[in-house]
Amino acid sequence: MSARKPLIAGNWKMFKTTGEAESFTKALFEKTQTLKSGLPEILLCPPYTALAVTEETVRKLKAPFAVGAQNMESKDNGAYTGEISPVMLKDMGIRWVLIGHSERRQYYNETDAGVNAKVKAALVHGLTPVICVGESLSERESGVTDSLIQQQVKAALKDVDALVYPTLVFAYEPVWAIGTGKVCEAPEANRVCGLIRKTLSAQGDGSQTRVLYGGSVKPDNIAELMRGGDIDGALVGGASLEPESFYKIIAGSVPVNA
Ligand code: PGA
Repeated sequence: MSARKPLIAGNWKMFKTTGEAESFTKALFEKTQTLKSGLPEILLCPPYTALAVTEETVRKLKAPFAVGAQNMESKDNGAYTGEISPVMLKDMGIRWVLIGHSERRQYYNETDAGVNAKVKAALVHGLTPVICVGESLSERESGVTDSLIQQQVKAALKDVDALVYPTLVFAYEPVWAIGTGKVCEAPEANRVCGLIRKTLSAQGDGSQTRVLYGGSVKPDNIAELMRGGDIDGALVGGASLEPESFYKIIAGSVPVNA
């Protein structure tokens, strides 16, 4: 068995008010208390406006959950209207951040160079980046998936010291599988997650780097996805919005009797 601890991350996207975030966190905590087979690492990524209440609720409950942002600016501060910096996240007790989610790349013109700047800023400030990569349907159909993934991984890590590779987290999220109900077949998802690790290993040590799969992960497909050996967990969108379905994914990610 791999020494990499499974990680299940919920990306709430632009959902949940402060009250909803608080009640979700309490309900999820109650459910996880009943899980006897051991927990994976659990990460909640609320929208900016619910970060504080989620972090505070987790802290008060002593819940075994980490809290992360869904994005950030790479600069520490400055005239960047509407942006949030790593310094501000750190100040709130946030230690994780999603970087380069395909919705950021698609709707907000986030580039590989921008992703690289954010990864470096996260590392400077001691935030763990969850670096998202993935191909679109047309890229998959034209057979460039592997070269594109390798290029996204290398670009994200340009000028990043290979010594930090073990602390990084990647998420392989094929764009065509996000929010579509069309999950990537487990063997193929596992293969691409392995490719990400191999790409790292060409420049350093990728053996400890966790690679998640994301894209229509549900309670009924998590166990199969986790079976391949190269998928260390999931980045979950839609199914992370209800405590019950997110809990079932958490429970399904760890082997029974672990
Ligand atoms: P989904 O989203 O689980 O709703 O497909 C995944 C993601 O965007 O991270």
